[in-house]
Amino acid sequence: MSEPLKIAIAGLGTVGMGLLKLLQDNSTTISQRCGREIVVTAVCSRDRTKDRGVDLGSITWYDNAARMASEADAQVIVELIGGSDGIALETCMNALQAGRNVVTANKALLAHHGMTLARAAKNSGASVHYEAAVAGGIPIIKSLREGLSANNIQRICGILNGTSNYIMTRMRNESLSFEAVLKDAQDLGYAEADPIFDVNGVDAAHKLAILASLAFGTEINFDAIHIEGIGNISLSDVEYANELGFRIKLLGIAQRTETGIEQRVHPCLIPASSIMANVEFAYNAVEVTCDFAETVIHVGPGAGAGPTASAVIADLVDIARGHTLPVFNVPGDKLAALPTVPMNEHLGKYFIRLKVTDHSGVLAQITAILSKHDVSVESVLQRAQDPGKPVPLVMVVHETREHRMNAALLEISALDSVMSEPHLIRIELH
Ligand SMILES: NC(=O)c1ccc[n+]([C@@H]2O[C@H](COP(=O)([O-])OP(=O)(O)OC[C@H]3O[C@@H](n4cnc5c(N)ncnc54)[C@H](OP(=O)(O)O)[C@@H]3O)[C@@H](O)[C@H]2O)c1
Repeated sequence: MSEPLKIAIAGLGTVGMGLLKLLQDNSTTISQRCGREIVVTAVCSRDRTKDRGVDLGSITWYDNAARMASEADAQVIVELIGGSDGIALETCMNALQAGRNVVTANKALLAHHGMTLARAAKNSGASVHYEAAVAGGIPIIKSLREGLSANNIQRICGILNGTSNYIMTRMRNESLSFEAVLKDAQDLGYAEADPIFDVNGVDAAHKLAILASLAFGTEINFDAIHIEGIGNISLSDVEYANELGFRIKLLGIAQRTETGIEQRVHPCLIPASSIMANVEFAYNAVEVTCDFAETVIHVGPGAGAGPTASAVIADLVDIARGHTLPVFNVPGDKLAALPTVPMNEHLGKYFIRLKVTDHSGVLAQITAILSKHDVSVESVLQRAQDPGKPVPLVMVVHETREHRMNAALLEISALDSVMSEPHLIRIELH
């Protein structure tokens, strides 16, 4: 066997400890596949005194990850600290400037500084690997960079945040409110104590930014993503969606249109019979629509120590085999800056939920406004309530541009008969 591949690990939390365990448990298999051993020579974490349940005695401990990245006896620095800036960025930059390869699971860092890292890697001849940054154990980065590399990709659509998917699944299965499931998920350890990036769509957007760059050969452009989370989805939305044959999922979608690239993260109604609708709980899924391979769907666990460590090791195996690729699929100077399609140009069907007074003529008033804006109604649902009380009114409208929908809703919300802000959810049929 050749010389071992020496690695240094920054961050010994969920993923870092998962990595140490997997390297130990599957050492024979991994060494055979690499053609050499992977040896951990250095580690760094915040608290040296913490009992992590493993003997780190033979490994050099660093108190400063950025210093470790420059100085450790290692060819690869594995960054598993997290955060888009600060120590994670400094660690990766120091490693690359010293000509060491970087492996990271940090989607926030890549979404915000991916281009800076790619340039630093090019300058020093090192490489950046990030299979674990998107969809945990699903090898979606490999799929886009290698398996599907012959194809022009038209669209990527993913369930990219396990916590949101878990919440939406339990809301539907158990008829619970968003708040009730979130609290339970936190108590059970499925959701972070601070789940803001999970539920507000930002975590999914970090991952979408990476996928869009790989799929379309464009520079990462996080700021171009339209982001909405699931915090406004009510149990009644879930129930009406069910009645109409849909399920609600937080999706990240990047697609080519005639005028540029559309990138968006928001809750969507999708047909209940679709594969994506049946990806439940904390599972992730990524659907890639290609010109020759057609539609390829990847499903698997999107997080957790084991799946994420598995993805980190896939990168280490590549490095050990001497297999490196341009960071974002094509050489940096070939990455295009394609125009971004603004959200108000989005073309799609919409679900609208209104609360209206229980009087005759209200529906006619609303449909007249929709029609004035060229929006045509496909179906209407109205359930009887207590007499005299406001009634919910749910509509599905045919495909239209979002600016027409917004203009119509602005007028509708000003009607005396409309008792609360109209609630809109986009429908994705494919
Ligand atoms: N958890 C998942 O399932 C998952 C899945 C995919 C991607 N990721 C990504 O993987 C990365 C790590 O996530 P995680 O869940 O493992 O996080 P975590 O459990 O919070 O672990 C973070 C680790 O970083 C260490 N750390 C924090 N600040 C540090 C500093 N200034 N210097 C050195 N070490 C520092 C912590 O040290 P102490 O232990 O000493 O406090 C801890 O060991 C993140 O980028 C995350 O987005 C995670």
